[in-house]
Amino acid sequence: MITGENLGQGRLVPCCVWLSLGLLGLLSILPCSWTQEPLNTGDPMDVEDPVDADRSAFQPQSALADMEFASISSYRGPGNSDFRGNKELPILLWWSAGLFPHFPGDTERINCHTSSCLVTRNRKVQLYRRTSSIIFYGTDFRAYEAPLPRPAHQTWALFHEESPMNNYVLSHGPGIRLFNYTATFRRGSDYPLTLQWLPSLGYLVQPVAVSLEQKNRWRREGLATIMYMQSHCDVPSDRDRYVQELMNYIEVDSYGKCVNNKPLPQYLEDTSTATGEEASFMSFTARYKFHLALENGLCQDYMTEKLWRPLHQGCVPVYRGSSSVVDWMPNDHSIILIDDFPSPRDLARFLKALDEDDEEYAKYLEFKNPGHVTNVGLLDALENREWGVNDMSKPNYLNGFECYVCDQENARLAAERAYKKAPGKSPPPQPKMANNSHMGCPLPSPGFGDIQDLPTNDSWVQMWPQDYWQSLDQAEGLESLIKHNESDPALLWHHIQEIAMRRARGGQA
Ligand SMILES: *[C@@H]1O[C@H](CO)[C@@H](O)[C@H](O)[C@H]1NC(C)=O
Ligand SMILES: *[C@@H]1O[C@H](CO)[C@@H](O)[C@H](O)[C@H]1NC(C)=O
Ligand SMILES: *[C@@H]1O[C@H](CO)[C@@H](O)[C@H](O)[C@H]1NC(C)=O
Ligand SMILES: *[C@@H]1O[C@H](CO)[C@@H](O)[C@H](O)[C@H]1NC(C)=O
Repeated sequence: MITGENLGQGRLVPCCVWLSLGLLGLLSILPCSWTQEPLNTGDPMDVEDPVDADRSAFQPQSALADMEFASISSYRGPGNSDFRGNKELPILLWWSAGLFPHFPGDTERINCHTSSCLVTRNRKVQLYRRTSSIIFYGTDFRAYEAPLPRPAHQTWALFHEESPMNNYVLSHGPGIRLFNYTATFRRGSDYPLTLQWLPSLGYLVQPVAVSLEQKNRWRREGLATIMYMQSHCDVPSDRDRYVQELMNYIEVDSYGKCVNNKPLPQYLEDTSTATGEEASFMSFTARYKFHLALENGLCQDYMTEKLWRPLHQGCVPVYRGSSSVVDWMPNDHSIILIDDFPSPRDLARFLKALDEDDEEYAKYLEFKNPGHVTNVGLLDALENREWGVNDMSKPNYLNGFECYVCDQENARLAAERAYKKAPGKSPPPQPKMANNSHMGCPLPSPGFGDIQDLPTNDSWVQMWPQDYWQSLDQAEGLESLIKHNESDPALLWHHIQEIAMRRARGGQA
């Protein structure tokens, strides 16, 4: 776990490591794998396991955690005629050892679409000539622990499917540009995971769980129109401040720890039940006409189960999250966007009117009818993504991204060899690096109102804007460490100070 102490200088960095649990939960059921021969790369080494005991205290929150990630044994890509011995293959090092998507063992040969690689989580190979790429998990990536020095031949690959709030270093140009390949929730990343929380088209169009007639009956029995259920408070999107304000104008049943106004029924109090797709939990929440669905961090294309689950159940999401969410909706009338309304009061008025107009309400669920998913972009993306959820014929996305990096690296190495051999005939390979279209999440802003109007002792004010800008310092510090070929990442703080001092003197950073 990250604490202020580890960071020195009393810097405040939120502790978000546990959020990666959704994914870890998923890995614990990940069967192996795409690989064959066990390998011997020398002495086993004690690799520090980044998985805290703390993490096991949390239940998986991911909808996908309940589902099986199937994979293929003895997979060999159709275009793979790479029969080199293991000793000749490029090595990919998983820096976040806990995510290494193979077991048992620390090292495997992978045979991908067009080429093969060795993958390992043994950090001993960090500076090997053959180690051509290092794969990082964004949530665990720490500038002050980065593998240094970074040899010129080594590429970095970033896997980050989780919330932007877990690591704002990656949302700044100098941070994301350190990576050559990315798999993130953004559609502009190299290996996009945008629809990771949407298992399939069938999940989306599943018939409405509770009919409108029944929903209206529940209303008469005292249920509010809208449900909110959130137990992760104090997040960068500052969603609770908005919900609190909305509650002044319309009744909201709020069951989570944040802005709670109703107890969960006893049979749902076990939070592990209340966060999954467990049947009793699902039928409890499906009775509501609307679900307040606010992501914990705002970024283009960052969409989670908060959005897809109500759509699946046939409850209308009242959403704030990705600003381009409509690009992924089943049609143009299936969601209510908070930011379309000038104020919570206007939103409340609109929801009240819909509550009283069955015909208008029903229009939001028309996409459930056969053939009513009209968004071709969504259909194509679901059809064409190469990783699968519950799909025996497709890899999971960790193995998928690893293979993407493997094929890219082999192609790059081949291009470099060709260029060296005959510089006149082959062009020099062009460098490839990520940019803000691979992550680039904006500065957090208050969920309601202007930041100037909030008291300076407000916990959100004290936390998130600072975290965002300190992350920029860290990204620039790391960039500087690499530029100066430093070997000790702990010199990060020194480099950050130097940059700040140069700036203060009016010089160039
Ligand atoms: C990888 O990214 C680094 C940092 O941006 C860059 O210096 C390097 O040229 C890139 N490598 C390749 C092979 O594109
Ligand atoms: C960012 O990278 C993508 C490729 O990943 C490229 O198409 C795009 O032009 C780049 N954008 C900028 C502003 O450099
Ligand atoms: C913030 O300060 C005000 C007075 O300036 C005080 O009433 C309030 O309790 C403080 N809030 C917190 C969270 O410390
Ligand atoms: C970077 O430092 C390493 C040792 O830490 C050294 O082997 C290497 O030659 C240096 N690279 C450059 C470009 O100076």
